[in-house]
Amino acid sequence: MKLVNINEARELLLHGEVVGIPTETVYGLAGWIKSDEGLRKIFSTKERPFFDPLIVHIDTIEKAKSLTSEWTPLHEVLARACWPGPLTLIAKKNDLTNPLITSGLDSVGLRCPNHSATLELLSQIEGGLAAPSANKFGKTSPTSAAHVYDEFKEDVPILDGGACEVGIESTVAGIEKTDEGWKVLIYRPGFFTAQFLQQILKENGISSDVLYAESPVAPGQLKHHYMPNIPLIIIAETTGWTKARPIIEKKLGREISQPAFWTLANDAVIASRELYENLRQFSANGHDLILIQRNSKHSGEEWKGIWNRLTKAKTFELDESLNIVE
Ligand code: TXA
Ligand code: MG
Repeated sequence: MKLVNINEARELLLHGEVVGIPTETVYGLAGWIKSDEGLRKIFSTKERPFFDPLIVHIDTIEKAKSLTSEWTPLHEVLARACWPGPLTLIAKKNDLTNPLITSGLDSVGLRCPNHSATLELLSQIEGGLAAPSANKFGKTSPTSAAHVYDEFKEDVPILDGGACEVGIESTVAGIEKTDEGWKVLIYRPGFFTAQFLQQILKENGISSDVLYAESPVAPGQLKHHYMPNIPLIIIAETTGWTKARPIIEKKLGREISQPAFWTLANDAVIASRELYENLRQFSANGHDLILIQRNSKHSGEEWKGIWNRLTKAKTFELDESLNIVE
């Protein structure tokens, strides 16, 4: 593993290289926003299509604002309350933001990660670092330096910052103007829930709604994502393996001999911390299928981010009537 310290990471980034960096959510594959070479290398290393916009990591609200042309009171309130932390705010960009980052959109995603090593690195870098999760496009996200190494081997130097605390990617929130005023739209659910963000706004005298919605512009939210190397099948709470097995085998066109039965932790904070590590372990331990059951205890808003990832990571789902849902 090619491990680097903060100074070495900085030098590499300023010279157009990419570096694996720790954050509280997942490891990022970082490139300097002022280096076209670094930004292009993110896409080529990840095999990521150019139409999927990157988010920019910064260590201060000032740096975030310097990349935008409109910073509303909602941006300010949410950034002050949630940064450093797992919230990405979408804002109108200005001309300083490289179009390679935004895939030609007129907005940019901004986030201040809550990790001491990366905050230190960011404080020593002009502008900021673009960083998607450090995995091949569509695959399971990394929550440790070892995961980044598994994905890219010696091609990507890594700043090791230990295991990620949160474990799933940041909540992505956009702020839109409507006839009735501003509203916040969550394009990707994560640790910070709609209810929590709404509460923060309310405490600051802003009564805007916070709603879950698909992003109208960013096609990054593809149907399949985060996928492990073996099929992940979700079954209904009322369906057992014996009933599900013949249907799954028929659909996959082969027999299953080593299924892994995956039970999530009862606490959503722990379940999300372990999510990607579990997905990787099951794939690596000689299993030929991962089976996970829906659970009515796992239905609160704090579970939304987890089920969002599992639903995208699945090969298919069997509903209560044993119908296949892809
Ligand atoms: O926690 C995280 O956010 C991690 C760590 C490394 O910070 N990063 C991450 O990046 O998950 P990535 O590229 O895998 O996901 C960024 C998401 C994508 O779904 C993308 O479509 C969306 O943010 N996004 C980026 N810019 C956007 C924009 N201008 N408008 C709407 N969505 C945007
Ligand atoms: Mg990703």
